[in-house]
Amino acid sequence: MKNPNRFTQIFYCLFVGILALGCSTSKSVVASPTPNLEIDIIPKPQVLTIDNGVYEVPKQNTVSYSGTSQDAAVLLNTLLQSVNVSSNIQATSNRANFKLIQDQAFAQELGDEGYILDIKSNGVTLTSAGAAGLFYGIQSLKQLLPSGVENGAIASKNIVLPQLHIKDVPKYSWRGNMIDLARSFFGVDYLKQHMDRMAFYKLNRLHLHLTDDQGWRLELKSKPLLSEIGGKSAVKGGRSGFLTTEDYKELQAYAKERHIVIIPEIDLPGHIYAALVAYPELNCEELTNLNPKMATPPDFYDGYKVGWSKLCLTNPAVYDFVAEVLKEVSELTDGPWVHIGGDEIDDDLYETFVVKADSMVRSYGKVPIGWEEMSKADVSKEFISQRWNAKTTPKHKSKVIESICTSFYFDHANVTGQEQTNNWCQKAGVSLEDVYHFNDKEDEIIGVEAPVWSELVLTDAMMDNRLWPRLMAVAEVGWSASHDDFNDFLKRLRAHESRLEALNIEYHPLPELN
Ligand code: ACM
Repeated sequence: MKNPNRFTQIFYCLFVGILALGCSTSKSVVASPTPNLEIDIIPKPQVLTIDNGVYEVPKQNTVSYSGTSQDAAVLLNTLLQSVNVSSNIQATSNRANFKLIQDQAFAQELGDEGYILDIKSNGVTLTSAGAAGLFYGIQSLKQLLPSGVENGAIASKNIVLPQLHIKDVPKYSWRGNMIDLARSFFGVDYLKQHMDRMAFYKLNRLHLHLTDDQGWRLELKSKPLLSEIGGKSAVKGGRSGFLTTEDYKELQAYAKERHIVIIPEIDLPGHIYAALVAYPELNCEELTNLNPKMATPPDFYDGYKVGWSKLCLTNPAVYDFVAEVLKEVSELTDGPWVHIGGDEIDDDLYETFVVKADSMVRSYGKVPIGWEEMSKADVSKEFISQRWNAKTTPKHKSKVIESICTSFYFDHANVTGQEQTNNWCQKAGVSLEDVYHFNDKEDEIIGVEAPVWSELVLTDAMMDNRLWPRLMAVAEVGWSASHDDFNDFLKRLRAHESRLEALNIEYHPLPELN
């Protein structure tokens, strides 16, 4: 038996009758009923019961679907064709050997994202209440197929699946990561490829840090100079550029097909120098809102320092600017959330400002998110706080996205001493094990998110290196009911190396994987 959790293991022992052979809950003595078939699903499913036997995928297959699950049928059909068998779709067919069932009757048990996957001697049945559940069930099924499905390199002639039962429901609704496009730009192609990878590991939130001192990365029709001028700068050695509104819409459509929501961040009222170059009227008269030793308009800023620029909060024009920007960003955004930053700034009017910004976002129909500093102000009850250094005492309780830097700051080193990484939060870096052992005991947490700040992350390969494989640990922390067996995670991770390679992910080669 591969990777059973304790409950599954006991269940298996009791009901398959191996007790007589001395079955115990110790992993090493449990005989594998399917010796040639690894089950190494990441993130670990909630319940996995392995039956004795296999299902050999025939040369001719039929996928049936119920209700509105045609998209999932197309996805599964394509997946089957990619393993060199033929497959067709029939809406409701009793003879189908791959059955997709989407039924609201399972909503209570499975939520929108959960699924039940049964592989038996006569075929495969995948059941869910929502479209996301079927999508995630198909990702699990994909992980049971050879890694060659990722790049069309299927060597084996016979495709064999283990007979099993999985019932799987995520722990948290928020399982994500943040990419800083502002210091160094990452464009549409990289972000699409990244979302394919995220979806494969059941990650569902992509937070884009779009604005900072070093650049402004989203075109807004109401304020064209933000990207026209602010899109030209970057951190030293980093890439400049910006997403057009069409790019942003395209990315959101791509995300939606993969059950990912994009969260735009416009960082306010600090981290704002690129906007101050584009619209210098947002400065105070004597530039008291800046540290002129860093830069003054019209010069760009390409350094690493934070906390030295802010909007001039005594200037009424600033509030009109912020309202217009947040309105357009809200209108452009499909998802329910808009992130308004709020980090690392000192100003007597800070709290007044963030309360106003929170209220603006809500008036444009979105839920505001901000870095934890915002929670010291009298923000709304809808506000979601993103914890990063745990230094803020919140005024009220609110929902929390957990990004505590000791576990989730992936601009920090994978291994101690790694070049081009930060270490201000934790000298030794943030190891895979630090991520995996995140202690998530608090009630208000709605999920986890790993940010990658890009002051020192200048290329796609470097971004891959910071994200992978640590993001697989985020996936497991965010999805799986428990994450207390790091060695078991490593064993499964090792089995995923060929998949990471097939997906062209330039992951960090961890010593743990050797
Ligand atoms: C942050 O790291 N300034 C949120």
